[in-house]
Order: sequence, then structure tokens, then C-alpha cells
Amino acid sequence: MIRKIDETAEYIRQCVGGRVMPRIAVVLGSGLGLVADRIKNPLTIPYAGIPNFVRPTAIGHKGNLIVGSLGGKDVLAMQGRFHYYEGYTMQQVTFPVRVMARLGVKTLFVSNAAGAVNPTYRVGDMMVITDHINLLPNPLIGPNMDEFGPRFPDMTTVYSTRIRQIAIEQAGLMGETLQQGVYVAGTGPTYETRAEYRYYAAIGGDAAGMSTIPEVIVARHCGMEIFGMSIITNQSNDLSETCLNDGDDVVRQANLAAEKMSTLFERIIANLPVTA
Ligand code: HPA
Repeated sequence: MIRKIDETAEYIRQCVGGRVMPRIAVVLGSGLGLVADRIKNPLTIPYAGIPNFVRPTAIGHKGNLIVGSLGGKDVLAMQGRFHYYEGYTMQQVTFPVRVMARLGVKTLFVSNAAGAVNPTYRVGDMMVITDHINLLPNPLIGPNMDEFGPRFPDMTTVYSTRIRQIAIEQAGLMGETLQQGVYVAGTGPTYETRAEYRYYAAIGGDAAGMSTIPEVIVARHCGMEIFGMSIITNQSNDLSETCLNDGDDVVRQANLAAEKMSTLFERIIANLPVTA
């Protein structure tokens, strides 16, 4: 595994060439790949050419790594991610995060499309992820990669409170209010039954999804600082008979919110203190 991680990191290092290797990475979820259009001076590295990377098959996911500048800082963006429901192993899903760690990435921004579980949430809301509940297999199961982190990593403080504070301030300046809540992820690919949405609410969830937590767990294992955001794309808290979930609609709603999320990400990154 380590040999594969190094091989991939070396390939990316060669593609990046003389440019600065970013210390900030951004994972763009369903319908949110548009954020990549904001990246200045972009260098696009298609996943298809990257050794040991698999291909995203999910709707609304392109397959590119993009290196460039966002908010005046160097970033590495993943335009499209891998999901467990695509049939990939947890190791394949989280492989890019290991490579990022090897390349020197210290801060990870993750985004996703999610269903509202909290009854006060509306389609189009942006939710800062304050915590998560993982109902997917844990990606750290198996021999521990001691070079990256401990066998039993702490998960009491996963999402950066410092970056969350910057996000709230910047959203306020944009005239936007952010929801703050707990993201729950199951395997998918089915959307939840009504009983499952009620279960998610009962266990403390605010938004439902099928991604993000695997990458976040591995990033935490690697000691990265993490900021996560969900775009609420469907009113799964609407328990009326006419309410149905549909993947195309989820991508459409995420696309509609991508512009404001891009602006927010750009502003957060611009206001992120440069660390040593
Ligand atoms: N459930 C799970 N994943 C999702 C949802 C949902 O309601 N919306 C977008 N991704």
C-alpha cells in the first residue's frame, strides 16, 4: 500500500513540476465540481492517467485533480470523489487522501450533497459539518499504517472549530446564514426510507449522505485539519406522501448552490492564516 501511495505521489509531483505543492486540498462532491472553475492558473491532471486511482462513476462527478490558486493560496482540488457504493473498497475510496498527506497537504476541505434530516433545514441551505456519525465501514480497519498515524485515532474533535469560525464570519459578510450540524453517512446507493430518516434524526443527525466520512477519518488519521460542508439538496425531512428522492434532482440542486459555496470556500481560504 505504501509503495502504491508513493508511486502515485511521485506521479503527481512530476505533473506539478516547478509549481508549489499545495498544502490545502479540496474534495468536491456531487454537483459541486463547479468550484474548480474558480481555480486560477489551473493545471488539470485527469484521474485516468494517475496510477492507482480508480474512476468516479457517480453522476455529477468529473475525474480530475486540479492544482492552482483559490483565494490567493495554492490548492489541490479533487473534482469528483469515489464512493463505497460504486463498489470500491474503503482503501480505494480513501487512497487520494493518503496521497495528499504524502504530498504535504495539511488542511482538507470536503463538500457533499446531503438530504435534510433536521426539520428546520431547507433545500439550498449550506451546512457546516460540526461532527459526524459513521454508518459505513471504517476505512482504518486492517493493519495500521504507523507512518501516517496511530492505531486508535482520536475522533472527539474532527472538524476544525477555527475554520468553522472563519466560515461563519465570511458567510455573514455574504449575507448568508449557515446551518451547523451532524452529518450521517450510510453506504447507499439507496436513499433512506422514511423510518431510516427518522432513525437518523433520533440518533442526532441533521443531514444524510453517502460519502465524506471515509476521507475525513483517513485525513484525521494523517493529522490534517478538516473543514466540511454539506449542501442540502433534498427535503428528506418532508414526510408527505408526494416527497420522493431522485439523484438527478440532487445534482441539480447541488449545482444551484455551487456558486455560493465556491464563493464561500474561496473567502475562507483567503482568510485562512498561513501556518508554518
Ligand atoms: N440521503 C443520502 N445521501 C444523499 C441524500 C439523502 O437524502 N441527498 C444527497 N445525498
